[in-house]
Amino acid sequence: MGNIETEINKRRTFAIISHPDAGKTTLTEKFLLYGGAINLAGSVKGKATARHAVSDWMEIEKERGISVTSSVLEFEYDGYHINILDTPGHQDFSEDTYRTLMAADSAVMVIDASKGVEAQTRKLFKVCGMRGIPIFTFINKLDRDANDTFELLDEIEKELGIATCPINWPLGCGKGFKGVYDRQTKEVITYSDTEKGTKEGETTVISIDDDTSVINAIGQERHDILKDEIELLDGASAEYDLERVREGKLTPVFFGSALTNFGVEVFLQYFLKMTTTPLPRKSGEELIDPVKHGFSAFVFKIQANMNKAHRDRIAFMRICSGKFEASKEVKHIQGGRTLRLSQPQQIMADSRKILDEAYAGDIIGVFDPGIFSIGDTVCAPSENIVYEGIPTFAPEHFARVKQIDTMKRKQFVKGIEQIAKEGAIQIFQEYNTGLEEIIVGVVGVLQFDVLKYRLENEYNVDIRLEPLPYEHIRWIMNKDIDIDKITGTSDMKKIKDLKGRPLLLFVNAWSVGMTLDRNEGLELTEFGTD
Ligand code: G4P
Repeated sequence: MGNIETEINKRRTFAIISHPDAGKTTLTEKFLLYGGAINLAGSVKGKATARHAVSDWMEIEKERGISVTSSVLEFEYDGYHINILDTPGHQDFSEDTYRTLMAADSAVMVIDASKGVEAQTRKLFKVCGMRGIPIFTFINKLDRDANDTFELLDEIEKELGIATCPINWPLGCGKGFKGVYDRQTKEVITYSDTEKGTKEGETTVISIDDDTSVINAIGQERHDILKDEIELLDGASAEYDLERVREGKLTPVFFGSALTNFGVEVFLQYFLKMTTTPLPRKSGEELIDPVKHGFSAFVFKIQANMNKAHRDRIAFMRICSGKFEASKEVKHIQGGRTLRLSQPQQIMADSRKILDEAYAGDIIGVFDPGIFSIGDTVCAPSENIVYEGIPTFAPEHFARVKQIDTMKRKQFVKGIEQIAKEGAIQIFQEYNTGLEEIIVGVVGVLQFDVLKYRLENEYNVDIRLEPLPYEHIRWIMNKDIDIDKITGTSDMKKIKDLKGRPLLLFVNAWSVGMTLDRNEGLELTEFGTD
């Protein structure tokens, strides 16, 4: 047992979130470099191949130059076993990001020092906030002109509603960037630039009390500014409080430059100490302790077609407790049967490694013959664990799907159902019209393109999508209600989901309110979880 406990306590599983271009990929790459997982900067996102990151599996990603899917990177550093969950930056894939965050125990938020809090940062942060996980802030690109440091912190506090606690403090920016001041050790760490290096460059570490050396290193003017700022900071900023960090109420803030390799390793070291070991998770009313329970995991992502030659599907699972052993059978709760997980693997960059064992905190990808759905639990046969499902985002765009070659009905239905199972789209049918037409709902419009592309390429089925004007979807909560009697506005549409549950589509929020007014006792909900 001791061994399992040690292994689990070594694990740190986190996601990196940012607005596109803030430097998430660069930072990830430097982390991997320190862990020795890659040899040279540039492997994560080669400059020559422009925006082609390791997680870009699908052709469509290459064509569009965006990262559609999330990948998992794992490496060892300083006695820790680190799992980084990469999240797609594109806003149309926020649902995928949300699920990925469900698998993380903390998040690193990267902010561009010259931009501050941006649109996508705000959205992603909200999702982290929903889970109450610890959030660590890395303010990047200090080697370029940056916004005022106090204003940056103020913006995070006001816009995101989280208290900030700077762990270090930048000494100037851009051409005048001299390094950072570490508030915990009370030392000045001078700036060094090693863009291509494997470790941080030569820096000088000087105690703040050694005025002469500090002045020699950063100049009289910067020294004086720093002294004033320290005084201001010590008086005004929130105290470092690990408890509040763990509750997601206070974010420790670090400054640096991922590109020039400055402040990154220091950040990683602090972060690893401050963040949590794998967190317990809820099964019904019970909290499942990662160490005390046997193996359990939940599916947070299903990725199809990672290897085009084999048309395979990989179900990504986050292990929540115990030890996974490939040779042992596990219970698939939702499927109601016991099975051996096939080809369990760890996904590192674009290569895969078959593994025999893994521990709570780890992410494993297993071959999915089409039995898993997002949110499913698997556990040791002796355990009785059912993790809470992952709520689905209410789709905001709808289209009717027309099959061009009606002879291929079977392939079409199979394809669209499988893609829906992966959670990329949601499918609905007309209510009571007898029509077999399928209506798809998506959170981001780009998913329509993905659907069309995948049906053509993987299932050999051509479709035409006819956009529908609806933007709001509501499930009907009332059990005994005659759906035919519901009277709404003229633009309201009745549909049903795959489980036959009735739903209403509306063009605007006003129609939702109007329908509620007209039908006394009617209860509607935005979320379609079971
Ligand atoms: P992302 O994953 O968050 O989208 O950002 P990414 O790391 O791809 O970085 C976006 C751009 O910002 C890249 O430049 C990258 O080199 C640059 N960058 C990242 N960190 C820093 C930093 O600390 N300082 C400076 N000055 N730049 C930084 P690019 O020109 O768009 O791409 P590339 O040609 O360098 O790959």
